[in-house]
Amino acid sequence: MARIPDAFIDELLARTDIVEVVGGRVPLKRQGKEYSACCPFHDERSPSFTVSPTKQFYHCFGCGAHGTALSFLMNYDRLEFLDAVEELARRTGMEVPRETQQRNENNDTKDLFNALEAAARFFQRNLDGSDKAKVYLHGRGVDAAIRTQFMIGYAPDGYSALKDALGTDERRMKLLDRAGLFSKNDRGHVYDKFRDRVMFPIHDRRGRVIAFGGRVLQKDDGPKYLNSPETALFHKGRELYGLWQVKQANQKIARLVVVEGYMDVVSLFQFGVKEAVATLGTATTPEHAELLFRNAPDVYFCFDGDAAGQRAAWRALESVLPRMKDGRQAFFLFLPDGEDPDTIVRQEGAAGFDARLQQAMPLSQFFFDELAKDIKLSTLDGKARLAERARPLLAQIPDGAFGDLMRQRLTEITGVGAGNTNTTSATPPVSARRAAPSQSGHNKPSLVRSIIVRLLHKPSLALAIESTHGFSALRLAGMELLLELIDLVHARPDITTGVLLEHFAERDEAAALQKLAMQDLPGDEDSWRQEMLDAAVQLEKQMLQQRLDELQAKQRSMGLDETDKYELRTLLQARIGRH
Ligand code: UTP
Ligand code: MN
Repeated sequence: MARIPDAFIDELLARTDIVEVVGGRVPLKRQGKEYSACCPFHDERSPSFTVSPTKQFYHCFGCGAHGTALSFLMNYDRLEFLDAVEELARRTGMEVPRETQQRNENNDTKDLFNALEAAARFFQRNLDGSDKAKVYLHGRGVDAAIRTQFMIGYAPDGYSALKDALGTDERRMKLLDRAGLFSKNDRGHVYDKFRDRVMFPIHDRRGRVIAFGGRVLQKDDGPKYLNSPETALFHKGRELYGLWQVKQANQKIARLVVVEGYMDVVSLFQFGVKEAVATLGTATTPEHAELLFRNAPDVYFCFDGDAAGQRAAWRALESVLPRMKDGRQAFFLFLPDGEDPDTIVRQEGAAGFDARLQQAMPLSQFFFDELAKDIKLSTLDGKARLAERARPLLAQIPDGAFGDLMRQRLTEITGVGAGNTNTTSATPPVSARRAAPSQSGHNKPSLVRSIIVRLLHKPSLALAIESTHGFSALRLAGMELLLELIDLVHARPDITTGVLLEHFAERDEAAALQKLAMQDLPGDEDSWRQEMLDAAVQLEKQMLQQRLDELQAKQRSMGLDETDKYELRTLLQARIGRH
Protein backbone atom coordinates (compact mmCIF):
# COMPACT_ATOMS: atom_id res chain seq x y z
CA MET A 1 0.00 0.00 0.00
CA ALA A 2 1.38 3.33 -0.99
CA ARG A 3 2.26 5.87 1.67
CA ILE A 4 0.24 9.01 2.09
CA PRO A 5 2.49 11.96 1.25
CA ASP A 6 3.60 14.04 4.24
CA ALA A 7 2.46 17.19 2.47
CA PHE A 8 -1.07 15.85 2.38
CA ILE A 9 -1.05 15.06 6.10
CA ASP A 10 0.40 18.48 6.87
CA GLU A 11 -2.28 20.24 4.91
CA LEU A 12 -4.97 18.02 6.34
CA LEU A 13 -3.91 18.89 9.88
CA ALA A 14 -3.44 22.53 9.02
CA ARG A 15 -7.06 22.65 7.88
CA THR A 16 -8.34 20.68 10.85
CA ASP A 17 -9.10 22.30 14.16
CA ILE A 18 -8.03 19.96 16.92
CA VAL A 19 -10.27 21.77 19.38
CA GLU A 20 -13.29 20.80 17.29
CA VAL A 21 -12.17 17.21 16.90
CA VAL A 22 -11.45 16.70 20.59
CA GLY A 23 -14.31 18.92 21.70
CA GLY A 24 -16.74 16.77 19.78
CA ARG A 25 -15.81 13.85 22.01
CA VAL A 26 -14.66 15.31 25.31
CA PRO A 27 -16.19 18.38 26.98
CA LEU A 28 -13.53 21.08 26.86
CA LYS A 29 -13.24 24.16 29.04
CA ARG A 30 -11.46 27.25 27.83
CA GLN A 31 -8.49 28.32 29.95
CA GLY A 32 -6.55 31.24 28.58
CA LYS A 33 -5.03 30.28 25.27
CA GLU A 34 -5.77 26.62 25.76
CA TYR A 35 -8.57 24.23 26.56
CA SER A 36 -8.67 21.67 29.33
CA ALA A 37 -10.62 18.59 30.35
CA CYS A 38 -10.37 15.46 32.44
CA CYS A 39 -8.11 13.16 30.49
CA PRO A 40 -10.02 10.65 28.38
CA PHE A 41 -7.02 8.29 28.44
CA HIS A 42 -6.72 7.75 32.15
CA ASP A 43 -8.92 8.09 35.22
CA GLU A 44 -8.74 11.40 37.01
CA ARG A 45 -10.91 13.84 38.88
CA SER A 46 -9.20 17.12 38.20
CA PRO A 47 -8.36 18.05 34.63
CA SER A 48 -4.76 17.68 33.48
CA PHE A 49 -5.56 17.20 29.81
CA THR A 50 -4.95 20.26 27.62
CA VAL A 51 -5.62 21.04 24.00
CA SER A 52 -3.74 23.85 22.30
CA PRO A 53 -5.38 25.46 19.26
CA THR A 54 -2.19 27.31 18.30
CA LYS A 55 0.12 24.34 18.54
CA GLN A 56 -2.57 21.98 17.31
CA PHE A 57 -1.82 19.29 19.82
CA TYR A 58 -3.11 17.76 23.01
CA HIS A 59 -1.13 16.81 26.07
CA CYS A 60 -1.96 15.21 29.38
CA PHE A 61 0.23 16.18 32.32
CA GLY A 62 -1.09 13.17 34.20
CA CYS A 63 -0.45 10.23 31.91
CA GLY A 64 1.71 11.86 29.26
CA ALA A 65 -0.69 11.12 26.40
CA HIS A 66 -0.13 13.56 23.59
CA GLY A 67 -0.41 14.03 19.87
CA THR A 68 -2.21 15.60 16.96
CA ALA A 69 -5.83 15.47 15.88
CA LEU A 70 -4.88 12.34 13.95
CA SER A 71 -3.38 10.56 16.90
CA PHE A 72 -6.33 11.63 19.01
CA LEU A 73 -8.72 9.91 16.61
CA MET A 74 -6.51 6.85 16.53
CA ASN A 75 -6.37 6.61 20.30
CA TYR A 76 -9.84 7.78 21.22
CA ASP A 77 -11.92 6.30 18.41
CA ARG A 78 -9.39 3.48 18.12
CA LEU A 79 -9.00 4.00 14.41
CA GLU A 80 -6.22 2.77 12.25
CA PHE A 81 -4.01 5.46 10.77
CA LEU A 82 -5.65 5.39 7.34
CA ASP A 83 -9.13 5.40 8.81
CA ALA A 84 -8.26 8.40 10.91
CA VAL A 85 -6.88 10.17 7.85
CA GLU A 86 -10.10 9.46 5.97
CA GLU A 87 -12.19 10.68 8.85
CA LEU A 88 -10.36 14.02 8.96
CA ALA A 89 -10.39 14.27 5.17
CA ARG A 90 -14.15 13.85 5.22
CA ARG A 91 -14.50 16.63 7.79
CA THR A 92 -12.35 19.06 5.85
CA GLY A 93 -13.67 18.07 2.44
CA MET A 94 -10.27 16.98 1.21
CA GLU A 95 -9.72 13.94 -0.91
CA VAL A 96 -7.15 11.37 0.10
CA PRO A 97 -4.74 10.97 -2.82
CA ARG A 98 -6.20 8.34 -5.10
CA GLU A 99 -3.42 5.76 -5.19
CA THR A 100 -3.23 5.67 -1.43
CA GLN A 101 -6.87 5.03 -0.70
CA GLN A 102 -7.89 2.29 1.67
CA ARG A 103 -7.39 -1.19 0.46
CA ASN A 104 -11.03 -1.97 1.13
CA GLU A 105 -12.07 0.51 -1.50
CA ASN A 106 -10.31 -1.58 -3.97
CA ASN A 107 -12.99 -3.80 -5.52
CA ASP A 108 -10.80 -6.80 -5.57
CA THR A 109 -10.18 -6.63 -1.84
CA LYS A 110 -13.82 -6.00 -1.19
CA ASP A 111 -14.60 -9.23 -2.99
CA LEU A 112 -12.07 -11.03 -0.85
CA PHE A 113 -13.71 -9.74 2.33
CA ASN A 114 -17.09 -10.80 0.96
CA ALA A 115 -15.84 -14.30 0.23
CA LEU A 116 -14.56 -14.66 3.80
CA GLU A 117 -17.80 -13.33 5.21
CA ALA A 118 -19.77 -15.79 3.08
CA ALA A 119 -17.57 -18.63 4.30
CA ALA A 120 -18.15 -17.62 7.92
CA ARG A 121 -21.91 -17.64 7.30
CA PHE A 122 -21.66 -21.00 5.62
CA PHE A 123 -19.85 -22.44 8.64
CA GLN A 124 -22.43 -20.95 10.99
CA ARG A 125 -25.31 -22.50 9.03
CA ASN A 126 -23.56 -25.83 9.16
CA LEU A 127 -23.18 -25.65 12.90
CA ASP A 128 -26.93 -25.24 13.18
CA GLY A 129 -27.31 -28.37 11.10
CA SER A 130 -24.72 -30.49 12.85
CA ASP A 131 -25.67 -32.35 15.99
CA LYS A 132 -22.20 -33.60 16.61
CA ALA A 133 -20.65 -30.14 16.51
CA LYS A 134 -23.36 -28.77 18.77
CA VAL A 135 -22.84 -31.63 21.18
CA TYR A 136 -19.12 -30.90 21.19
CA LEU A 137 -19.56 -27.20 21.96
CA HIS A 138 -22.20 -27.98 24.54
CA GLY A 139 -19.79 -30.43 26.13
CA ARG A 140 -17.21 -27.66 26.36
CA GLY A 141 -19.75 -25.33 27.87
CA VAL A 142 -19.91 -22.77 25.08
CA ASP A 143 -23.37 -21.22 25.21
CA ALA A 144 -25.46 -20.09 22.25
CA ALA A 145 -25.08 -16.35 22.86
CA ILE A 146 -21.31 -16.55 22.83
CA ARG A 147 -21.40 -18.77 19.74
CA THR A 148 -23.25 -16.05 17.93
CA GLN A 149 -21.06 -13.27 19.27
CA PHE A 150 -17.90 -14.97 18.06
CA MET A 151 -19.60 -16.27 14.91
CA ILE A 152 -18.47 -19.78 15.76
CA GLY A 153 -19.31 -22.32 13.07
CA TYR A 154 -18.61 -25.79 11.80
CA ALA A 155 -16.83 -26.93 8.64
CA PRO A 156 -18.51 -30.16 7.50
CA ASP A 157 -16.72 -33.41 6.86
CA GLY A 158 -15.89 -34.31 3.28
CA TYR A 159 -13.58 -32.59 0.87
CA SER A 160 -15.83 -30.23 -1.02
CA ALA A 161 -18.64 -28.91 1.15
CA LEU A 162 -17.45 -25.30 1.00
CA LYS A 163 -16.24 -25.61 -2.56
CA ASP A 164 -19.60 -26.96 -3.74
CA ALA A 165 -21.60 -24.38 -1.82
CA LEU A 166 -19.62 -21.22 -2.60
CA GLY A 167 -17.20 -21.97 -5.41
CA THR A 168 -19.91 -21.77 -8.01
CA ASP A 169 -17.82 -20.20 -10.72
CA GLU A 170 -14.20 -19.70 -11.66
CA ARG A 171 -14.03 -16.21 -10.15
CA ARG A 172 -15.42 -17.36 -6.80
CA MET A 173 -13.09 -20.33 -6.74
CA LYS A 174 -10.18 -17.96 -7.15
CA LEU A 175 -11.38 -15.71 -4.35
CA LEU A 176 -11.88 -18.61 -1.93
CA ASP A 177 -8.43 -19.80 -2.81
CA ARG A 178 -6.88 -16.39 -2.19
CA ALA A 179 -8.79 -16.25 1.08
CA GLY A 180 -6.85 -19.34 2.19
CA LEU A 181 -9.80 -21.71 2.32
CA PHE A 182 -8.51 -24.40 -0.02
CA SER A 183 -5.72 -26.92 -0.07
CA LYS A 184 -4.23 -28.53 -3.15
CA ASN A 185 -2.86 -32.06 -3.52
CA ASP A 186 0.14 -33.18 -5.58
CA ARG A 187 -1.97 -33.65 -8.64
CA GLY A 188 -3.31 -30.13 -8.43
CA HIS A 189 -6.71 -31.13 -7.12
CA VAL A 190 -8.28 -28.41 -4.99
CA TYR A 191 -10.27 -29.31 -1.85
CA ASP A 192 -11.59 -27.72 1.35
CA LYS A 193 -8.83 -26.90 3.81
CA PHE A 194 -11.06 -27.05 6.87
CA ARG A 195 -12.99 -30.29 7.32
CA ASP A 196 -14.94 -31.57 10.28
CA ARG A 197 -13.72 -28.75 12.50
CA VAL A 198 -15.28 -26.18 14.81
CA MET A 199 -14.55 -22.87 13.13
CA PHE A 200 -13.46 -19.67 14.88
CA PRO A 201 -13.51 -16.68 12.50
CA ILE A 202 -10.74 -14.14 13.11
CA HIS A 203 -11.90 -10.55 12.73
CA ASP A 204 -9.81 -7.53 11.87
CA ARG A 205 -10.01 -4.30 13.84
CA ARG A 206 -13.09 -3.20 11.96
CA GLY A 207 -14.96 -6.43 12.48
CA ARG A 208 -14.39 -7.99 9.09
CA VAL A 209 -13.57 -11.69 8.87
CA ILE A 210 -10.02 -12.13 7.60
CA ALA A 211 -9.14 -15.71 8.56
CA PHE A 212 -10.19 -18.78 10.54
CA GLY A 213 -8.96 -21.16 13.18
CA GLY A 214 -10.49 -24.62 13.14
CA ARG A 215 -10.44 -27.16 15.97
CA VAL A 216 -10.84 -30.89 15.61
CA LEU A 217 -13.77 -32.47 17.41
CA GLN A 218 -11.86 -35.54 18.45
CA LYS A 219 -8.34 -36.02 19.65
CA ASP A 220 -6.00 -37.64 17.14
CA ASP A 221 -7.82 -36.19 14.18
CA GLY A 222 -4.88 -34.30 12.78
CA PRO A 223 -3.44 -31.15 14.34
CA LYS A 224 -5.67 -29.84 17.12
CA TYR A 225 -5.94 -26.41 15.59
CA LEU A 226 -5.55 -25.46 11.98
CA ASN A 227 -5.16 -21.78 11.10
CA SER A 228 -5.65 -19.98 7.82
CA PRO A 229 -2.41 -19.43 5.96
CA GLU A 230 -1.01 -15.93 5.60
CA THR A 231 -3.01 -14.13 2.92
CA ALA A 232 -3.25 -10.60 1.57
CA LEU A 233 -5.60 -9.83 4.44
CA PHE A 234 -4.20 -12.00 7.19
CA HIS A 235 -0.78 -11.66 8.83
CA LYS A 236 -0.94 -13.59 12.03
CA GLY A 237 1.88 -11.67 13.68
CA ARG A 238 -0.27 -8.56 13.51
CA GLU A 239 -3.67 -9.82 14.54
CA LEU A 240 -5.15 -10.59 17.91
CA TYR A 241 -8.05 -12.98 18.17
CA GLY A 242 -10.95 -11.43 20.07
CA LEU A 243 -9.83 -7.80 19.89
CA TRP A 244 -12.85 -6.87 17.83
CA GLN A 245 -15.23 -8.41 20.35
CA VAL A 246 -13.40 -6.77 23.26
CA LYS A 247 -13.71 -3.39 21.57
CA GLN A 248 -17.40 -3.97 20.98
CA ALA A 249 -17.94 -4.89 24.61
CA ASN A 250 -16.03 -2.01 26.22
CA GLN A 251 -16.30 1.74 25.79
CA LYS A 252 -12.89 2.14 27.30
CA ILE A 253 -10.52 -0.79 27.67
CA ALA A 254 -8.71 -0.50 30.99
CA ARG A 255 -6.67 -3.65 30.54
CA LEU A 256 -6.14 -6.41 28.03
CA VAL A 257 -5.41 -10.00 28.96
CA VAL A 258 -3.32 -11.91 26.46
CA VAL A 259 -3.95 -15.65 26.41
CA GLU A 260 -2.79 -18.48 24.20
CA GLY A 261 -5.93 -20.03 22.79
CA TYR A 262 -9.20 -19.40 21.02
CA MET A 263 -11.12 -21.31 23.67
CA ASP A 264 -9.51 -19.23 26.41
CA VAL A 265 -10.78 -16.00 24.87
CA VAL A 266 -14.26 -17.39 24.31
CA SER A 267 -14.63 -18.88 27.79
CA LEU A 268 -13.30 -15.82 29.56
CA PHE A 269 -15.77 -13.72 27.61
CA GLN A 270 -18.65 -16.00 28.46
CA PHE A 271 -17.80 -15.81 32.14
CA GLY A 272 -17.59 -12.04 32.04
CA VAL A 273 -13.89 -11.33 31.58
CA LYS A 274 -14.45 -9.38 28.38
CA GLU A 275 -10.87 -8.23 27.97
CA ALA A 276 -9.06 -11.25 26.60
CA VAL A 277 -7.30 -11.61 23.26
CA ALA A 278 -5.13 -14.38 21.88
CA THR A 279 -2.06 -14.42 19.71
CA LEU A 280 -2.66 -16.92 16.96
CA GLY A 281 -0.34 -19.81 17.64
CA THR A 282 2.67 -17.45 17.54
CA ALA A 283 4.86 -15.67 20.02
CA THR A 284 3.93 -12.12 20.97
CA THR A 285 5.45 -9.98 18.22
CA PRO A 286 6.47 -6.31 18.49
CA GLU A 287 3.45 -5.53 16.31
CA HIS A 288 1.25 -7.30 18.82
CA ALA A 289 2.80 -5.30 21.63
CA GLU A 290 2.14 -2.05 19.82
CA LEU A 291 -1.43 -3.03 19.07
CA LEU A 292 -2.04 -4.07 22.66
CA PHE A 293 -0.79 -0.82 24.17
CA ARG A 294 -2.56 1.25 21.58
CA ASN A 295 -5.78 -0.21 22.94
CA ALA A 296 -5.13 -0.39 26.67
CA PRO A 297 -2.64 1.06 29.17
CA ASP A 298 -2.33 -2.18 31.15
CA VAL A 299 -1.54 -5.50 29.52
CA TYR A 300 -1.55 -8.86 31.32
CA PHE A 301 0.22 -11.77 29.69
CA CYS A 302 -1.13 -15.09 30.78
CA PHE A 303 0.92 -18.23 30.22
CA ASP A 304 1.23 -21.84 31.28
CA GLY A 305 3.46 -22.33 34.28
CA ASP A 306 5.77 -24.75 32.45
CA ALA A 307 9.08 -24.08 30.76
CA ALA A 308 7.42 -23.36 27.42
CA GLY A 309 5.20 -20.79 29.11
CA GLN A 310 8.24 -19.11 30.66
CA ARG A 311 9.93 -18.91 27.29
CA ALA A 312 6.82 -17.49 25.67
CA ALA A 313 6.56 -14.93 28.47
CA TRP A 314 10.15 -13.84 27.92
CA ARG A 315 9.50 -13.39 24.22
CA ALA A 316 6.53 -11.22 25.11
CA LEU A 317 8.69 -9.21 27.50
CA GLU A 318 11.24 -8.60 24.77
CA SER A 319 8.51 -7.32 22.50
CA VAL A 320 7.05 -4.93 25.06
CA LEU A 321 10.24 -3.46 26.56
CA PRO A 322 10.81 -0.93 23.76
CA ARG A 323 7.19 0.13 24.11
CA MET A 324 7.12 0.74 27.85
CA LYS A 325 6.40 4.44 27.70
CA ASP A 326 5.28 6.01 30.95
CA GLY A 327 1.67 5.26 31.75
CA ARG A 328 1.91 1.74 30.37
CA GLN A 329 2.17 -1.37 32.52
CA ALA A 330 2.77 -5.01 31.73
CA PHE A 331 2.14 -7.97 34.04
CA PHE A 332 2.80 -11.66 33.81
CA LEU A 333 0.50 -14.34 35.14
CA PHE A 334 1.62 -17.96 35.27
CA LEU A 335 -1.04 -20.62 35.68
CA PRO A 336 -0.69 -23.90 37.57
CA ASP A 337 0.44 -26.91 35.57
CA GLY A 338 -2.23 -28.40 33.36
CA GLU A 339 -4.57 -25.43 33.62
CA ASP A 340 -5.37 -22.71 31.12
CA PRO A 341 -7.60 -19.63 31.40
CA ASP A 342 -10.51 -21.67 30.05
CA THR A 343 -10.30 -24.27 32.82
CA ILE A 344 -9.51 -21.70 35.51
CA VAL A 345 -12.45 -19.44 34.75
CA ARG A 346 -14.79 -22.43 34.71
CA GLN A 347 -13.55 -23.54 38.13
CA GLU A 348 -13.07 -20.18 39.78
CA GLY A 349 -15.35 -17.83 37.88
CA ALA A 350 -14.53 -14.29 36.78
CA ALA A 351 -13.79 -13.27 40.36
CA GLY A 352 -11.27 -16.05 40.78
CA PHE A 353 -9.55 -15.26 37.54
CA ASP A 354 -9.53 -11.59 38.39
CA ALA A 355 -7.96 -12.33 41.76
CA ARG A 356 -5.15 -14.11 39.97
CA LEU A 357 -4.66 -11.12 37.70
CA GLN A 358 -4.39 -8.90 40.76
CA GLN A 359 -1.54 -11.10 41.93
CA ALA A 360 0.22 -11.10 38.58
CA MET A 361 3.93 -10.38 38.49
CA PRO A 362 4.93 -6.89 37.36
CA LEU A 363 7.28 -6.76 34.40
CA SER A 364 10.13 -5.48 36.56
CA GLN A 365 10.01 -8.50 38.83
CA PHE A 366 9.77 -11.01 36.01
CA PHE A 367 12.63 -9.24 34.26
CA PHE A 368 15.11 -9.44 37.13
CA ASP A 369 13.97 -12.86 38.38
CA GLU A 370 14.38 -14.36 34.96
CA LEU A 371 17.75 -12.75 34.23
CA ALA A 372 19.13 -13.81 37.60
CA LYS A 373 17.81 -17.35 37.44
CA ASP A 374 21.15 -19.12 37.05
CA ILE A 375 23.25 -16.44 38.72
CA LYS A 376 24.64 -16.34 42.26
CA LEU A 377 23.87 -12.80 43.24
CA SER A 378 25.88 -13.07 46.44
CA THR A 379 29.11 -12.97 44.44
CA LEU A 380 30.66 -9.99 42.74
CA ASP A 381 30.97 -12.01 39.61
CA GLY A 382 27.27 -12.81 39.61
CA LYS A 383 26.34 -9.17 40.09
CA ALA A 384 28.51 -8.15 37.18
CA ARG A 385 26.96 -10.81 34.99
CA LEU A 386 23.46 -9.68 35.83
CA ALA A 387 24.37 -6.10 35.05
CA GLU A 388 25.88 -7.17 31.76
CA ARG A 389 22.75 -9.06 30.75
CA ALA A 390 20.40 -6.32 31.84
CA ARG A 391 22.10 -3.33 30.22
CA PRO A 392 21.29 -3.94 26.55
CA LEU A 393 17.70 -4.74 27.44
CA LEU A 394 17.24 -1.73 29.71
CA ALA A 395 18.65 0.47 26.98
CA GLN A 396 15.59 -0.35 24.90
CA ILE A 397 13.14 1.18 27.35
CA PRO A 398 12.00 4.61 26.19
CA ASP A 399 13.08 7.59 28.31
CA GLY A 400 10.89 8.14 31.30
CA ALA A 401 10.22 7.23 34.88
CA PHE A 402 9.81 3.52 34.20
CA GLY A 403 13.21 3.22 32.59
CA ASP A 404 14.77 5.22 35.42
CA LEU A 405 13.21 2.94 38.01
CA MET A 406 14.39 -0.18 36.21
CA ARG A 407 17.94 1.14 36.07
CA GLN A 408 17.73 2.14 39.71
CA ARG A 409 16.56 -1.35 40.58
CA LEU A 410 19.54 -2.84 38.77
CA THR A 411 21.84 -0.63 40.79
CA GLU A 412 20.11 -1.71 44.00
CA ILE A 413 20.52 -5.37 43.18
CA THR A 414 24.06 -5.28 41.88
CA GLY A 415 25.58 -2.01 42.92
CA VAL A 416 26.35 -1.60 39.24
CA GLY A 417 24.65 1.02 37.10
CA ALA A 418 22.90 0.47 33.81
CA GLY A 419 24.98 2.85 31.73
CA ASN A 420 27.18 1.19 29.15
CA THR A 421 30.44 2.43 30.53
CA ASN A 422 32.88 -0.09 31.90
CA THR A 423 33.21 1.53 35.27
CA THR A 424 31.48 -0.02 38.23
CA SER A 425 30.21 3.25 39.62
CA ALA A 426 26.49 3.76 39.31
CA THR A 427 25.51 6.05 36.46
CA PRO A 428 22.64 8.39 37.21
CA PRO A 429 19.45 7.62 35.34
CA VAL A 430 19.13 9.19 31.92
CA SER A 431 16.54 11.77 32.83
CA ALA A 432 18.62 12.97 35.76
CA ARG A 433 21.59 13.37 33.43
CA ARG A 434 19.50 15.31 31.02
CA ALA A 435 18.21 17.65 33.67
CA ALA A 436 21.68 18.24 35.10
CA PRO A 437 23.01 21.05 32.88
CA SER A 438 20.17 23.42 33.72
CA GLN A 439 20.59 22.84 37.44
CA SER A 440 24.31 23.27 37.62
CA GLY A 441 26.07 26.25 36.12
CA HIS A 442 24.47 28.64 33.67
CA ASN A 443 20.75 28.88 34.12
CA LYS A 444 20.33 30.92 30.98
CA PRO A 445 18.99 28.71 28.21
CA SER A 446 21.41 28.34 25.33
CA LEU A 447 20.91 30.20 22.07
CA VAL A 448 20.24 26.95 20.24
CA ARG A 449 17.65 25.98 22.75
CA SER A 450 15.95 29.35 22.69
CA ILE A 451 15.53 29.05 18.93
CA ILE A 452 14.26 25.51 19.20
CA VAL A 453 11.66 26.53 21.77
CA ARG A 454 10.33 29.23 19.49
CA LEU A 455 10.23 26.92 16.50
CA LEU A 456 8.29 24.42 18.55
CA HIS A 457 5.75 27.06 19.44
CA LYS A 458 5.45 28.37 15.89
CA PRO A 459 7.15 26.14 13.33
CA SER A 460 6.65 28.52 10.42
CA LEU A 461 9.10 30.94 12.06
CA ALA A 462 11.83 28.76 10.60
CA LEU A 463 10.94 30.16 7.18
CA ALA A 464 12.41 33.48 8.34
CA ILE A 465 15.81 31.81 8.60
CA GLU A 466 16.88 31.80 4.97
CA SER A 467 20.21 30.14 5.41
CA THR A 468 21.87 28.18 8.18
CA HIS A 469 25.38 28.32 6.70
CA GLY A 470 26.33 31.12 9.02
CA PHE A 471 26.09 28.93 12.11
CA SER A 472 25.61 25.32 11.04
CA ALA A 473 29.24 24.36 11.64
CA LEU A 474 29.14 25.48 15.27
CA ARG A 475 29.87 22.63 17.59
CA LEU A 476 27.10 23.17 20.11
CA ALA A 477 24.73 20.85 21.89
CA GLY A 478 21.45 20.67 20.04
CA MET A 479 22.81 22.17 16.81
CA GLU A 480 22.04 19.09 14.72
CA LEU A 481 18.54 18.99 16.04
CA LEU A 482 18.05 22.68 15.31
CA LEU A 483 19.26 22.24 11.72
CA GLU A 484 16.99 19.27 11.28
CA LEU A 485 14.02 21.26 12.56
CA ILE A 486 14.71 24.13 10.22
CA ASP A 487 15.10 21.82 7.23
CA LEU A 488 11.94 20.02 8.15
CA VAL A 489 9.88 23.21 8.23
CA HIS A 490 11.38 24.40 4.95
CA ALA A 491 10.40 21.09 3.36
CA ARG A 492 6.97 21.03 4.99
CA PRO A 493 5.90 24.65 5.52
CA ASP A 494 2.40 23.69 6.70
CA ILE A 495 3.68 21.56 9.54
CA THR A 496 2.06 22.16 12.92
CA THR A 497 3.69 21.74 16.31
CA GLY A 498 1.73 18.57 16.84
CA VAL A 499 2.95 16.99 13.60
CA LEU A 500 6.45 18.13 14.29
CA LEU A 501 6.47 16.40 17.66
CA GLU A 502 5.01 13.31 16.07
CA HIS A 503 7.85 13.35 13.59
CA PHE A 504 10.30 12.95 16.45
CA ALA A 505 8.11 10.58 18.46
CA GLU A 506 10.35 7.54 18.12
CA ARG A 507 13.56 9.46 18.66
CA ASP A 508 15.61 10.00 21.78
CA GLU A 509 14.84 13.71 21.68
CA ALA A 510 11.07 13.16 21.81
CA ALA A 511 10.58 13.71 25.54
CA ALA A 512 12.78 16.80 25.63
CA LEU A 513 11.02 18.35 22.62
CA GLN A 514 7.65 17.59 24.13
CA LYS A 515 8.69 19.42 27.29
CA LEU A 516 9.98 22.46 25.42
CA ALA A 517 6.78 22.64 23.38
CA MET A 518 4.75 22.69 26.59
CA GLN A 519 6.75 25.54 28.05
CA ASP A 520 4.94 28.76 28.71
CA LEU A 521 6.61 31.19 26.35
CA PRO A 522 5.90 34.87 26.95
CA GLY A 523 5.37 37.14 23.97
CA ASP A 524 3.75 36.51 20.63
CA GLU A 525 4.66 35.41 17.16
CA ASP A 526 6.30 38.72 16.26
CA SER A 527 8.44 38.96 19.35
CA TRP A 528 9.40 35.29 19.01
CA ARG A 529 10.53 35.90 15.44
CA GLN A 530 12.68 38.81 16.50
CA GLU A 531 14.19 36.92 19.43
CA MET A 532 14.89 33.98 17.17
CA LEU A 533 16.61 36.11 14.54
CA ASP A 534 18.65 37.86 17.24
CA ALA A 535 19.75 34.49 18.56
CA ALA A 536 20.70 33.42 15.03
CA VAL A 537 22.89 36.52 14.68
CA GLN A 538 24.58 35.66 17.98
CA LEU A 539 25.24 32.17 16.69
CA GLU A 540 26.77 33.52 13.52
CA LYS A 541 29.10 35.66 15.61
CA GLN A 542 30.06 32.62 17.62
CA MET A 543 30.82 30.73 14.46
CA LEU A 544 33.04 33.50 13.23
CA GLN A 545 34.84 33.37 16.53
CA GLN A 546 35.14 29.59 16.40
CA ARG A 547 36.76 29.79 12.97
CA LEU A 548 39.02 32.65 14.04
CA ASP A 549 40.19 30.65 17.03
CA GLU A 550 40.91 27.68 14.80
CA LEU A 551 42.91 29.71 12.31
CA GLN A 552 44.87 31.49 14.98
CA ALA A 553 45.69 28.20 16.65
CA LYS A 554 46.90 26.89 13.32
CA GLN A 555 48.94 30.01 12.78
CA ARG A 556 50.71 29.35 16.05
CA SER A 557 51.30 25.65 15.49
CA MET A 558 52.04 25.15 11.83
CA GLY A 559 51.57 28.47 10.10
CA LEU A 560 48.97 29.47 7.55
CA ASP A 561 48.96 28.96 3.80
CA GLU A 562 47.66 31.56 1.37
CA THR A 563 44.00 30.47 1.49
CA ASP A 564 44.07 30.45 5.28
CA LYS A 565 45.53 33.91 5.36
CA TYR A 566 42.90 35.17 2.98
CA GLU A 567 40.15 33.61 5.09
CA LEU A 568 41.59 35.08 8.28
CA ARG A 569 41.64 38.56 6.76
CA THR A 570 38.03 38.29 5.56
CA LEU A 571 36.91 37.00 8.93
CA LEU A 572 38.61 39.83 10.79
CA GLN A 573 37.00 42.35 8.48
CA ALA A 574 33.62 40.71 8.88
CA ARG A 575 33.96 40.92 12.65
CA ILE A 576 34.77 44.59 12.44
CA GLY A 577 31.81 45.04 10.10
CA ARG A 578 29.49 43.43 12.58
CA HIS A 579 30.47 45.47 15.62
P1 UTP B 1 -3.70 -25.31 23.22
O1 UTP B 1 -3.33 -26.68 22.79
O2 UTP B 1 -3.31 -24.85 24.58
O3 UTP B 1 -5.21 -25.15 22.96
O4 UTP B 1 -3.16 -24.30 22.13
P2 UTP B 1 -6.43 -24.65 23.81
O5 UTP B 1 -6.74 -23.25 23.45
O6 UTP B 1 -6.30 -24.98 25.25
O7 UTP B 1 -7.51 -25.48 23.12
P3 UTP B 1 -8.52 -26.48 23.72
O8 UTP B 1 -8.90 -25.94 25.04
O9 UTP B 1 -7.86 -27.82 23.79
O10 UTP B 1 -9.59 -26.42 22.70
C1 UTP B 1 -3.23 -22.92 22.31
C2 UTP B 1 -3.31 -22.25 20.99
O11 UTP B 1 -2.22 -22.60 20.19
C3 UTP B 1 -2.60 -22.70 18.83
C4 UTP B 1 -4.05 -22.29 18.78
O12 UTP B 1 -4.13 -20.90 18.52
C5 UTP B 1 -4.53 -22.62 20.17
O13 UTP B 1 -5.68 -21.91 20.52
N1 UTP B 1 -2.47 -24.09 18.31
C6 UTP B 1 -2.49 -25.16 19.14
C7 UTP B 1 -2.30 -24.27 16.96
O14 UTP B 1 -2.26 -23.30 16.19
N2 UTP B 1 -2.19 -25.54 16.47
C8 UTP B 1 -2.25 -26.65 17.28
O15 UTP B 1 -2.17 -27.78 16.77
C9 UTP B 1 -2.39 -26.43 18.64
MN1 MN C 1 -7.67 -25.33 26.57
